[in-house]
Amino acid sequence: MQTQTGSLLHQAHMTTIEALQSLEEFLGSNRKMPVIDDLVGRKMKQLSKILRSEVENHFAFEENHLFKVFIEQGETGIVTMLTHEHRSILPLALQVSDIAKAAAEGGFTEASWTEFKEAGAELIEREIFHIQKEEMGLLSAIASLVDPEADEELADIYRRDVG
Ligand SMILES: [Fe+2]
Ligand SMILES: [Fe+2]
Repeated sequence: MQTQTGSLLHQAHMTTIEALQSLEEFLGSNRKMPVIDDLVGRKMKQLSKILRSEVENHFAFEENHLFKVFIEQGETGIVTMLTHEHRSILPLALQVSDIAKAAAEGGFTEASWTEFKEAGAELIEREIFHIQKEEMGLLSAIASLVDPEADEELADIYRRDVG
């Protein structure tokens, strides 16, 4: 049984995975620094927005609201592990997001392109792994730990704070 909260998280995970896969394709098909045309510019802007929202709003919801319910029920192991992963993903995602935004506005420089490729590749790996873990473990844990009333409340908070 899928909870409302679980399906909202799932939708956001899919959006992020898509953005990361498109980043991976972009990195794979541009061995050299690409020129930013309209299409690439829009891509960079969208990537920047999705990454920032994922690590600022989505992570914050998980940590400040969802994980609290888990801790109340003594489920601290999964919370510690996932929070730890958030800490390792957040700065990397913001770094990639900022470079993508700057590229959309004024193109890459050789230095920012190198940084983008390296941080981007590392981010793809860490974040896809994190999402896979949440998809396998977290969603079912929500279904078994969060009662329908709390699910309703959490889903409302998610829609209000994350969208
Ligand atoms: Fe998540
Ligand atoms: Fe997470």
